[in-house]
Amino acid sequence: MSTSSLFAPTTVAGLALRNRVVMSPMTRRFSPGGVPNQAVADYYRRRAEAGVGVIITEGVAVDHPAAVDHADIPNFHGPALDQWKTIAASVTSAGAAFIPQLWHIGGHRSLTADPPNASAPSLSPSGVYEPGKPFGTPATEVEIEAVIQAYAKGARDAAAIGASGVEIHGAHGYLIDQFFWAATNQRQDRYGGDMIERLRFATEVIKACREAVGPSFPIFFRYSQFKQVDYKARLCQSPDELAAFLQPLVDAGVDVFDCSQRRFWEPEFEGSPLNLAGWTKTLTGKPTMTVGSVGLDGDVVASLREGVDVIAASSLDKLDVMLDRGDFDLVGVGRALLADPHWVEKVRDGQTDGLAGFTRAALETLV
Ligand SMILES: Cc1cc2nc3c(=O)[nH]c(=O)nc-3n(C[C@H](O)[C@H](O)[C@H](O)COP(=O)(O)O)c2cc1C
Repeated sequence: MSTSSLFAPTTVAGLALRNRVVMSPMTRRFSPGGVPNQAVADYYRRRAEAGVGVIITEGVAVDHPAAVDHADIPNFHGPALDQWKTIAASVTSAGAAFIPQLWHIGGHRSLTADPPNASAPSLSPSGVYEPGKPFGTPATEVEIEAVIQAYAKGARDAAAIGASGVEIHGAHGYLIDQFFWAATNQRQDRYGGDMIERLRFATEVIKACREAVGPSFPIFFRYSQFKQVDYKARLCQSPDELAAFLQPLVDAGVDVFDCSQRRFWEPEFEGSPLNLAGWTKTLTGKPTMTVGSVGLDGDVVASLREGVDVIAASSLDKLDVMLDRGDFDLVGVGRALLADPHWVEKVRDGQTDGLAGFTRAALETLV
């Protein structure tokens, strides 16, 4: 096993990084009243001190009443901001870049709150979060503008508290992805229609964020083909469709694409070994991050739904080949880093026998 490329210093979108390992954003619901406490701060600091290159926070709520539907998901506004400022300082002083992930769940229900909080305010493109499943009301143009401004405020605040950049969560069937997906965006106005029109909300969000932070503050954008409500869904069926999807996002101001897959080694389209991050880099020329079962042998659905303990260093060999080929620039590690704060040190030093595996029990604590 060689993971030298993974641990080599690099510069991405102007950010000097000590290695390519990114802590992937993971909702933890440990912030009472939406304010991250000392335990949350320590959780992030531990991983920064143990060598992670970039920490992307759990999804944090933008300043909008329908952004999230669980009281213990952290906000990125109000009293929470002071705490995030302290966390940003402790993470960056420990040598990692710090990137909050701005989140609005849209009409999505059932995954953020358990049981679903049906009385929470909801806003979505067309009042459905899954084909045939109505929830809430379609957003008016005035409401859409308010949400765009909430993202812009989040990006401005990220820069103000000393974050290294900001990530916009455009994946997994949440608000931005609900606009992308024809099944959940049935609007007749300028925010609905063909894919280019369904991209309008995202591009307006990105442009507003870019305007808020200026040209040199890195903006990451996470997207996925799949949705949590439909793992088989695909936004783009071919490289040409993907190119047409990505270009407006590039033009709007994205610096780095975080390309969410469940298993990073799976090719995105037939006839090429490139995965989603590989294609995205090839088509846009922008730096990309891959993610999905790094260091593990089972994907996130298996381990969250079935509770299986998954750990395997074998996927790291595949990762090395792809990194050395230049397919992508950054590597997201989710559950493996959630379970073991010392994942980077142990893998780097070849101590993979000592890695803690991921079990559902890991979700109950902030180790
Ligand atoms: C508990 C948990 C919470 C997650 N929350 C988020 C989130 O807030 N935002 C996001 O974009 N992805 C979220 N994800 C997805 C992860 O960032 C990552 O893409 C996924 O777990 C695959 O990586 P892995 O196989 O290394 O775990 C979450 C995953 C887990 C396990």
